[in-house]
Amino acid sequence: MSTVTLESAREHRVTVPSLARRKQRGETLSMLTAYDFTFARLFDTAGIDVLLVGDSLGNVVQGQETTLPVTIDEIVYHTRLVSRATRRALVVADMPFGSYQISSEEAVRNAVRCVKEGGAHAVKLEGGRAVAETIERIVRAEIPVMGHVGLTPQAVHRMGGHRVQGRGDAGARRVVEDALAVQEAGAFAVVLEGVPADLAAAVTGELAIPTIGIGAGVHCDGQVLVMHDMLGLSDWTPSFVKQYASLGSVAAQAARRFAEEVAERKFPDPAHSYR
Ligand code: KIV
Repeated sequence: MSTVTLESAREHRVTVPSLARRKQRGETLSMLTAYDFTFARLFDTAGIDVLLVGDSLGNVVQGQETTLPVTIDEIVYHTRLVSRATRRALVVADMPFGSYQISSEEAVRNAVRCVKEGGAHAVKLEGGRAVAETIERIVRAEIPVMGHVGLTPQAVHRMGGHRVQGRGDAGARRVVEDALAVQEAGAFAVVLEGVPADLAAAVTGELAIPTIGIGAGVHCDGQVLVMHDMLGLSDWTPSFVKQYASLGSVAAQAARRFAEEVAERKFPDPAHSYR
């Protein structure tokens, strides 16, 4: 007789409560960005816990210099593709610039779209104390929120570039206060981006919710990377990125061979033609 209960079946899907339990047990979690069905399915099958439909799609999918032009319609569209492919991972939609800054009402409306039209299980938004009230409003609408503090790419112009945050006493205090504000507002997890490893370790020890680091050292509860960076599909990657594959050169080589075989009339050969 099968011993699969509803509870054990639920355990297979990564959920907001299961991530909280992981932190309590001292277990780590993995998060990758995904923007389409094909990669979402690969990462989900590989056991990645959280798939983030990041507004980094502005950089790596659209070829823009910053994430600022990404729209809520684009995030909803890509979230739908990722959700469709996912059986186990928690899907988080990244709220783009302009979709939550104007008013809490608009933020809730856009977060609802991510869940209702995109199929997201949660949303992420950047900022600490400044967005705490907005996080509270979205959480009250029963939508789990992931925070994002430290280097927040949507604040690129205020920061004067993509600069490491939290250096010096005042900088470190700001990051700690932002992370605490996000937790207090009801976020279930927080991304710590571009902060010194010691500071990320201290914040991780201070918070009850999981921290997910990117360029924040090894002591966070989880780690996230942009898929194009870790798969070797980007022209340039920051120094904190580890490249786990070189798909860019594999794809370029395949395209070159295809072009050569077309030019030489070697493709399609009889094995790849209908009779
Ligand atoms: O948009 C994104 O990919 C992100 C990650 C870098 C955390 O926010």
